[in-house]
Amino acid sequence: MTTAHAPGKIILFGEHAVVYGRPAIAVPLLQLQATGEVTDLSDSPRGNVWLQASAVDLSCWLHECPTHNPLAKVVRLTLAEVRAVDPPALSVRVTSQIPIASGLGSGAAVSVAVIRALSEHLGSPLPLERQSSIAFEVERLHHGTPSGVDNTVITFSQPVYFVRGTPPESFKIGRRFELAIGVSDMPAPTAVAVSTVRQGWLTDPERYDDLFDAIGHISEQARRVIHSGQPEALGPLMDENQDLLEELGVSSSALRELILAARASGALGAKLSGAGLGGNVIALVTPETRERVLRAYESAGAIMTMHTQVRN
Ligand code: PMV
Repeated sequence: MTTAHAPGKIILFGEHAVVYGRPAIAVPLLQLQATGEVTDLSDSPRGNVWLQASAVDLSCWLHECPTHNPLAKVVRLTLAEVRAVDPPALSVRVTSQIPIASGLGSGAAVSVAVIRALSEHLGSPLPLERQSSIAFEVERLHHGTPSGVDNTVITFSQPVYFVRGTPPESFKIGRRFELAIGVSDMPAPTAVAVSTVRQGWLTDPERYDDLFDAIGHISEQARRVIHSGQPEALGPLMDENQDLLEELGVSSSALRELILAARASGALGAKLSGAGLGGNVIALVTPETRERVLRAYESAGAIMTMHTQVRN
């Protein structure tokens, strides 16, 4: 059996604007992992692949899986990429600790875990760039116009400053800092939030472009303060970014409650993270405020809470 993993991710700044060419900052979330497991099936005809992902109720032979199923697509693309000649029958099983549709990168992490496990099992481990571009192809199924930030930060497992269409830049974190994450009880598919923003942009491109510019500017400032070791300056930037996400129409009452609870409990700033309309929020905390913020999330309805250190 071959087993491989990929982490979740957090978008610190720049979600949505990144789809329109502005910069975003994202970091891996190493304590939540997706896992791919590949085993030979000796009693089935060669070339057959059995796919199983219980969390999304999927179990099918590859040639019978729905055409647009993301997991089936990732397996097909990986098999084509490694050009396996007469492979044995295989079982591909996926499990994940990352909550689905919560802005924590579950889709891309599952893709990368499967790409890794399958290519390694077939004796042709793929370079990170190839893993990332296959995962990007699969992201297109989730929503038509992915920026590429999710597959990039998850594949490379490093903090990235990301601008669509340019090579990702990793950057130095001058001083480590801590985030408290609260997952709301509202899962929200990325496609819905992305298309809400698209409708707004098509209706009023000037206003939306101004909002995207303002968000992009925040990502640039954030990169500077992270690099120069002044992470406490991120708090106000998170609050500003949240105001702009509100204006884009991707916040929600559940997210607002979590954000207000975090700020009232001593967080230095808080915002939604990922596509929004549901999913998760992040807050900048210190070792002194961390527990209070996590408890406040729970009282405000979070179904999952955790904290993480952002560091190189
Ligand atoms: O996959 P999510 O929910 O974390 O959202 C991805 C971030 C977006 O900017 C909304 C979309 C994208 O492709 O960058």
